[in-house]
Amino acid sequence: MLHQQELLAAAAKMLANARHITVFTGAGVSAESGVGTFRDAQTGLWSHFDAQQLASQEGFAADPGTVWRWYQHRLAIVEAAQPNPGHVALANLEMLAPHFSLVTQNIDDLHERAGSRHVIHLHGHIGRFHCNGCETPYTLRSGDREAPMPPCCPHCTAYIRPSVVWFGEMLPEQEMQKAWRAAEHCDVFLVIGTSGVVYPAAQLPAIAHRRGGAIIEINTERSALSALAEVLLLGPSGEVLPKLLDALPRTSL
Ligand code: OAD
Repeated sequence: MLHQQELLAAAAKMLANARHITVFTGAGVSAESGVGTFRDAQTGLWSHFDAQQLASQEGFAADPGTVWRWYQHRLAIVEAAQPNPGHVALANLEMLAPHFSLVTQNIDDLHERAGSRHVIHLHGHIGRFHCNGCETPYTLRSGDREAPMPPCCPHCTAYIRPSVVWFGEMLPEQEMQKAWRAAEHCDVFLVIGTSGVVYPAAQLPAIAHRRGGAIIEINTERSALSALAEVLLLGPSGEVLPKLLDALPRTSL
């Protein structure tokens, strides 16, 4: 059984020899910033809230006010949060790598605030809004955030919703194509802080693996994807990622 130091060195060597690195993140990468994960038994959002009631068209149709207020509550948490050392380490890795892609399931903007560029958001953005009817983008007006109900579209009067992917909805086409290409063409696929149970996003590691990409995983515990991992680094990503960057031979990338 290799020790953490040896695993870190092995992962650093794989990254150092990579031409194309693709990173795939989930809620775990933002956990240390105070943005809750979904499926943690105690603290996970879905252990306290009904996903179908709050993150679906049916839920929004049945109770638009509760859905609106819930997303405003979550947006306030994201805005108050700061990127953690894990986000910062990924922004630094992007600058070192010859070719780099960052695909996230997260709807927060902590990767961008840490300096990551061209982040591929598969599940949308909690800080963006559009009409649930005509899909016209919408910029929040004063009073909208505190309002008990979502605002109505100035064009078609349908309700405004957050630009996030709800259960049963398709992923944004362009983002999906970019993410699939990034998985197909990478040498190393770095999976961070995801349970790997939400599809189609959770297909990406298997696509990379099938195409010969080496899988490195960082998680506080084993996930549904760990069987694919050549190296599994167990620990909080805000602690492991800076150590992984420190273990990189500077001259290599
Ligand atoms: P989950 O909550 O399902 O999984 C979070 C993962 O992060 C778990 O495997 C944890 O063990 C791990 N974790 C927790 N803290 C960590 C830390 N500090 N460092 C590293 N890992 C940590 O969240 P996701 O896999 O991102 O989708 O969930 C996927 C999707 O399900 C979300 O994008 C959302 C949700 O429903 C939609 O809303 C469409």
